[in-house]
Amino acid sequence: MSGSEIRVLLVCLGNICRSPMAESVMRLHIEQASLSDQFVIDSAGTSGFHAGETADPRTLDVLQRHGAPNPSRSRVLTTDDFKAYDWIIGMDRSNLRNMKRLCPPNARATMGLMLELTNGAEVPDPYYGGPGGFDRVFEMLNESVPLWIERMLAHG
Ligand code: 4NP
Repeated sequence: MSGSEIRVLLVCLGNICRSPMAESVMRLHIEQASLSDQFVIDSAGTSGFHAGETADPRTLDVLQRHGAPNPSRSRVLTTDDFKAYDWIIGMDRSNLRNMKRLCPPNARATMGLMLELTNGAEVPDPYYGGPGGFDRVFEMLNESVPLWIERMLAHG
């Protein structure tokens, strides 16, 4: 199916907490639905503060407890991503504003907000809070990601 995959990029600020968790949760759902050959999934941050680092240990802990795969290392979002991905989904409205600022005129990607298919809220940044914040982010993603997969499959 090379060339016809649905290419998805999940975006937050640092790319060490929310978007790597979203990347992993989406991979988990896609694997469980035997759809792995139909999707390419990655994540990126609007800042390069943590570029090259593995995800926050609290993110990795939640993912491991749920049997979800380890996400990719942090990298910064680039203008080229808007030509390489079909969907670029931000975790909060600030991410979305920064994405729109980087988006070139000939973009291929459709942009969205992670929770727009559930309650339209933002995925809160758990970085400065306690570990419970990471569990809550997991629950939000685990609810919204399957709806995005359905939407992306329907869209083609
Ligand atoms: P994330 O969380 O955007 O969900 O990865 C953050 C991680 C690090 C920082 C901010 C948010 N930081 O300022 O270093």
